[in-house]
Amino acid sequence: MPPQVSKNKNNYSFTIADLMKMNDRCDEALREIFHMSYVVMCQLLGTIHQHIHCLYKLSDAVSMLDMLLSLANVCTISDYVRPEFTDTLAIKQGRHPILERIVGQQPVSNNSYISEGSNFVIITGPNMSGKSTYLKQVALCQIMAQIAFRVADQIFTRIGVDDDFETNSSTFMLEMKEISYIIHNASDRSLIIVDELGRGTSAEEGIGICHSVCEFLLGLKAFTLFATHFLELCQLESLYPNAENQHMEVQHTRSGDTGLRAAEMTALPSNIIQEAKMIASKAKHHSDPETQRQRAVYKLATRLLQTARNSRLDPESLRMYLKGLKKQYEAELLAAGQPAAIDTEEE
Ligand SMILES: Nc1ncnc2c1ncn2[C@@H]1O[C@H](COP(=O)(O)OP(=O)(O)OP(=O)(O)O)[C@@H](O)[C@H]1O
Ligand SMILES: [Mg+2]
Repeated sequence: MPPQVSKNKNNYSFTIADLMKMNDRCDEALREIFHMSYVVMCQLLGTIHQHIHCLYKLSDAVSMLDMLLSLANVCTISDYVRPEFTDTLAIKQGRHPILERIVGQQPVSNNSYISEGSNFVIITGPNMSGKSTYLKQVALCQIMAQIAFRVADQIFTRIGVDDDFETNSSTFMLEMKEISYIIHNASDRSLIIVDELGRGTSAEEGIGICHSVCEFLLGLKAFTLFATHFLELCQLESLYPNAENQHMEVQHTRSGDTGLRAAEMTALPSNIIQEAKMIASKAKHHSDPETQRQRAVYKLATRLLQTARNSRLDPESLRMYLKGLKKQYEAELLAAGQPAAIDTEEE
């Protein structure tokens, strides 16, 4: 039989009957191999399936061993310390355990102190100042400490500003669902970490929601860290003895409208919603010059008090900080239509 020739575009193929037969045999052999593999795999799965619980146990044991080995390793090569358990959360010179691995150099360490007397800490500071990192650091330290001991009954977090496509939730709705879960489930022994709340809506409504949620949480004895850009929340410190302000610097944002209706659609208790509405409407009417001036004075006074109480800055840095405060105060007075005139820079 003469060879068969076929042309495909610029390619020519040649074959003969013997080659075609061999090709068919190859295909048949391959099919047989697939079939035999399938039968063997089915038999194997049938056998494994009877002992699947052992495999789960084995993987549990291996992952536990892996975790213990990693912990032993990290404890040996780092300067980690053994935690002591009291009714206070105190971390001296704490660092984010993952950040220090990633950045390569030693991250800036922070102290944390939360006790029964000041169990609600409001953290303010400009963008990228490390608020979120600090919150995660406290949560991670708590989890690492609790791996061996059980202290807080649960750790609740509201972190991140993503929307959730799967449950059809906007950023704001997701925030409301998460905070509502915390409100319904937190106990006096919980550690609650909230990284920004109510930022997915207007500043006024966001402040209202934050304020009423904070007031609810202040009623619990749970240790709470609440990072926010709403400086209005710092007023809580003067209203509640167990609230404390901590800040790296200050930044103020204001914009648009809408949102409380969306909050009503979640399971937030109605009294919180009512109060949020009241405070939101108050915040809206707070913009008369005299109120603005009083706020600026109040803010300056609390910042100065806080600096006098807590500052560990050296004289030069303190001078810079106070200068910044003065500048901000003057800008706020100007925005309130008042002449800005303070000359003191001293502590
Ligand atoms: N203690 C630290 N030491 C060194 N770098 C840090 C520290 N904390 C944060 N950073 C760096 O700064 C970046 C920003 O920090 P972070 O996201 O915590 O800021 P933020 O205050 O939450 O900002 P925003 O207000 O925009 O949410 C981090 O990705 C990290 O790389
Ligand atoms: Mg943040």
